[in-house]
Amino acid sequence: MPGENQTIVSEFLLLGLPIEPEQQNLFYALFLVMYLTTVLGNLTIIILIRLDSHLHTPMYLFLSNLSFSDFCFSSVTMPKLLQNMQSQVPSIPYGGCLTQMYFFMFFGDLESFLLMTMAYDRYVAICFPLHYTTIMRPQLCISLMALCWVLTTFNAMLHTLLMARLSFCADNVIPHFFCDMSALLKLACSDTQANVLAIFVMGGLILVIPFLLIIMSYARIVSSILKVPSVRGICKAFSTCGSHLTMVSLFYGTVIGLYLCPSANNSTNKDTVMALMYSVVTPMLNPFIYSLRNRDMGRVFCKRKMLSFS
Ligand SMILES: *[C@@H]1O[C@H](CO)[C@@H](O)[C@H](O)[C@H]1NC(C)=O
Repeated sequence: MPGENQTIVSEFLLLGLPIEPEQQNLFYALFLVMYLTTVLGNLTIIILIRLDSHLHTPMYLFLSNLSFSDFCFSSVTMPKLLQNMQSQVPSIPYGGCLTQMYFFMFFGDLESFLLMTMAYDRYVAICFPLHYTTIMRPQLCISLMALCWVLTTFNAMLHTLLMARLSFCADNVIPHFFCDMSALLKLACSDTQANVLAIFVMGGLILVIPFLLIIMSYARIVSSILKVPSVRGICKAFSTCGSHLTMVSLFYGTVIGLYLCPSANNSTNKDTVMALMYSVVTPMLNPFIYSLRNRDMGRVFCKRKMLSFS
C-alpha cells in the first residue's frame, strides 16, 4: 500500500469553473472583458497619477499602489483561467502551482494592507485636518508601504514553504480555477495540521485585524462628521464611505468566509463563486469606486482630453 501511494504528482489539473460546455464561450468572452477592464482601469489610474504632480499626495500614491496590486492580483489567475478554458487538458505543473499560490497570497494580502493604509489616511485627513501634512510625511508613507511588502512577503513565503513540505499522491484534480491553498490542502496525503494552524493564526492577523481597523476608522470618520452636521457633508460622507465599505466588506467577507470558516459540506461550487468575487470582481471595481467619485481625478481626465483636442 505505502509503495503505491508514493507516486509523485508532477502536475495538477485545474477543473476551472462549474460552467456547462455550451456556455463556455459566453463566459470566456465575459472573463476576457472583465480582465481587460481590470488591466485598463488600473493602468489608467497609475498613469494619470504619475503624470499629474498635483496628485502626488499620500492618498493618490496609496491609490496608485492599490491599482498596481489589483493589476497584479488579477494577472495571477485570469490569464491562466482564460487559457485553461480554451484547452482540452487544463493542467499546471507542480512548480507553477506553488508559484501561483505564492503570488496570489502576496497580492491578496497586499490588497488587505493597502485598504487598511488608505482607511487610516482618510481617518487622519478627516479627523485631524490641521495635522495631516505633519502626520502623513513622505517618510511615513514610504515606511508604511515598505512594511506592507515585508509582511506580505513573510506571510506568502510561510504558507508556500509549508505547502512545499507536503506530499501529493494519486489525486491531482483541483476543483477550482487556480491553485487555491485550501483546495490543495484537501489533496495532500501528509499531515496538514501545521498548515491549518498557520492559516488560522496568520489569517487572523492579516485579514481580521485590518478589517476591524478599517471599520473603526470609518466609524470615527462618520462620528466626527456627525458632530458638525450639514446635509451636504453627511451625504458626501455616507456616499464615499458607503461605497468604500461595500468594497471592503465584499473583499473581506468572502476571504474570511472562505479561509477562516471553511464550509463543512464540501460545497466546492459555492467556494469557487465566492473566490471569483474577491479575486476577479473587486480588482475590477476598485479603481472605479476609489477614483471616479473623485473630483480631482475627473479634473485631470478632462484637462488631458482638452489638451489632446487643442
Ligand atoms: C506607492 O507608494 C509610495 C509611498 O507613498 C510611493 O513612493 C510609490 O511611488 C507608490 N508606487 C506606485 C506604483 O504608485
